[in-house]
Amino acid sequence: MKTTISVIKADVGSIPGHVKVPDELLEIAKKSMQEAKEKGTIKSYHVTNCGDDLELIMSHDKGEDSPAIHGLAWETFKKVAALAKKRKYYGAGQDLLVEAFSGNVRGMGPGVAEFEIEERPSEPIIVFMCDKTSPSAFNLPFYKIFADPFNTAGLVIDSKIHDGFRFEVHDVKEGERIFLNCPEELYDLLSLIGLSSRYVIKRVFRRDGAVAAVASTERLSLIAGKYVGKDDPVAIARAQSGFPAVGEILEAFSFPQLVPGWMRGSHRGPLMPVSHEVARPTRFDGPPRVMALGFQVCEGELLGPVDLFGDLSFDLARKRAIEVSEYMRRHGPFEPHLLSPEELEYTTLPDVIKKLKNRFEPIKK
Ligand code: F6R
Ligand code: MG
Ligand code: MG
Repeated sequence: MKTTISVIKADVGSIPGHVKVPDELLEIAKKSMQEAKEKGTIKSYHVTNCGDDLELIMSHDKGEDSPAIHGLAWETFKKVAALAKKRKYYGAGQDLLVEAFSGNVRGMGPGVAEFEIEERPSEPIIVFMCDKTSPSAFNLPFYKIFADPFNTAGLVIDSKIHDGFRFEVHDVKEGERIFLNCPEELYDLLSLIGLSSRYVIKRVFRRDGAVAAVASTERLSLIAGKYVGKDDPVAIARAQSGFPAVGEILEAFSFPQLVPGWMRGSHRGPLMPVSHEVARPTRFDGPPRVMALGFQVCEGELLGPVDLFGDLSFDLARKRAIEVSEYMRRHGPFEPHLLSPEELEYTTLPDVIKKLKNRFEPIKK
């Protein structure tokens, strides 16, 4: 049977400042999801947050880009934003960039990761949620999970995934995409996805065409034309029996890679794997975080979740992330802690520099 998993997220208000979604806002979202479940719009749901981002994890039979599901998410965010505004929570309604819903939340502010799958006899999935970073945060871990035999033992020793995977890479500046097969085109893949501010892995497929993973790639700044907060991405990956194992998927996050985001969306910092309990970025509004919830899909229903980065085997990754945070912070307003000029284009920095424009004069030779 076919099941669709949709993860739709938005930052619609938080406490204090940009730290976390208030409990009463989560309750509004749960109520809205429960009503939709009773009406039969969705089969099951899990409402959660990673820092100041509210995530709606839904299972249903309506396929990808369904107006009913996107409409439900939009209406839910609107309800949450209404209370957030009334309570003067911070950034109330921030990610709802337009007034009227037009059938699909893509391009309207929220981030979306969804796939329709043919349910296997047993279907484990992992939902990843980030805060204080951008969609490119999944490039390195997805590469490791689906193309690096030093991360994923199955690429070498399991005939079911030995053929490798196919990557769909989006050029977020030009609005184009390319498909690359690995291991054959591994170096071509890396030549693009290493430039992670521009080329972002959107989906990964098994070589027989079955979808293995999907990430949200919405860039708020490219939609709004100015800085409107970070794009804090979400992703879904299928695990086991013909896909990388749960542990192989999680292994890729044991290295706290440097990602763009953190304070004012303008600084590089380590991506720290955390449990939901500590998904509340505070130091310098960070450091950036990633959360992982594991589910089993059973006849369209989500069973779980299990909070996967809660395990103590990720303590060392967290410790490293804290050490790297300390090291990066010592650079203050200097690169490479501060992002490059192109990456800062849509932040608040250009406004500051504009004031100095008329004071520049030619350097005499
Ligand atoms: C980063 C983030 C925060 C804010 C910062 C300033 O994604 O959301 O670091 O950029 O707290 O916020 P404002 O401009 O709202 O005072
Ligand atoms: Mg916020
Ligand atoms: Mg956020």
